[in-house]
Amino acid sequence: MKMPVRTAIFPVAGMGTRFLPATKATPKELLPVIDTPLIQYAIDEAQAAGIERMVFVSHPSKTAIERHVMDDAKLRAELKARGKPQLAEELQETALCPRRDDVVFTMQDEPLGLGHAVLCARDHVLPGPVAVILPDDLILGTGCLGEMVDAYAGSPMGHLVATMTVPREETSKYGILSVKTATDRVLAASGMVEKPQPEAAPSCEAVVGRYVLDASVFDDLESQAPGAGGEIQLTDAIATGAARVGLGGFRFSGMRFDCGSKAGMLRATLHLAAQDAELASVISDFIGEERKGLAA
Ligand code: G1P
Repeated sequence: MKMPVRTAIFPVAGMGTRFLPATKATPKELLPVIDTPLIQYAIDEAQAAGIERMVFVSHPSKTAIERHVMDDAKLRAELKARGKPQLAEELQETALCPRRDDVVFTMQDEPLGLGHAVLCARDHVLPGPVAVILPDDLILGTGCLGEMVDAYAGSPMGHLVATMTVPREETSKYGILSVKTATDRVLAASGMVEKPQPEAAPSCEAVVGRYVLDASVFDDLESQAPGAGGEIQLTDAIATGAARVGLGGFRFSGMRFDCGSKAGMLRATLHLAAQDAELASVISDFIGEERKGLAA
C-alpha cells in the first residue's frame, strides 16, 4: 500500500517577468482571472484533493501572497464595523487560518530553478509522497490534483506527472516525457527532458504543472547538477528517479490554461466569463460592437 499524499508544495518565488510591468509590485500568482487570483484556484484544487499541509515556497519581496492567502481578522472586523458582514464572511471562507489549516511559508531567496524551489520545501513536508502545484497552470473543470491523487494510489508509479499532447513545434516550452507505453490514462515513461527542441523531443507528451512525487525526489534534487537555463530542474530529478521508482504521465480531464502567458490569461478569462450569464452577454455585446466598428 502506498502512503497517502498529504502535502502540496506551491513554488511561488518566481519573478513573473513575462507579465511586467503588472508584476513589478504584484506577484504573478495574485493576478486575477475575473475576480479570483491564480493562487486561490490552486489552493482550492489542493483542498478538494484532500491535501493536509500546504507549503508555499515564496520570495521575501512577495509578502502580498501571504497577505492574500492568510485570514485577516482586522480587515474582517473593519468590514463588519462598516456594515459589510457578508463580505467579511466570504473572505473568511476562502482564507487559510492557522487555527484550522496547516500552512507553511518558506523562502527561496535566489532564483535557482523549480527543482531548487521544491527542495526548499523539504524540511516542511509531511511523511510520504508530495504534490507540487504550479499556480500559473490553471486547470478548470474536474480538479486535476484530486484525479491524480486517486490515480496515484492505484498505480505502481512512484512519480506521476500531469500530461497533455502538444504540437511538436511547442516542445521547447515544456518538460517532455519519453513514453514507453500509452494505453490508458496513465502513460508509462522512462524519463523526461526539459524543454527540448522539436527535433530532439522524445515525444509530444508535455508535462503541465501538477506532480505527485515519491519523497526520494528530494535526495535526487540535492545531488542534481544545474540543467536547462543553468537552473536546478525538477524535470531532471524526476528523470533520475524514473528508473528506480517508476514514472507515469497522467492525462487529466480538466481544461488547462497557460496563465503564465497573456494569451492563456485572456483565454481563461473568456472561458469563465462565457459561463456566467451576465458576463457572457458583455462578451457578445462587445463582439457585436467591434464588428460594427470594423464594418463602418
Ligand atoms: C515548468 C517546468 C516544465 C513544465 C512547465 C509546465 O516550466 O519546468 O517542465 O512543462 O512548468 O507549465 P516553466 O513554464 O515554469 O518554464
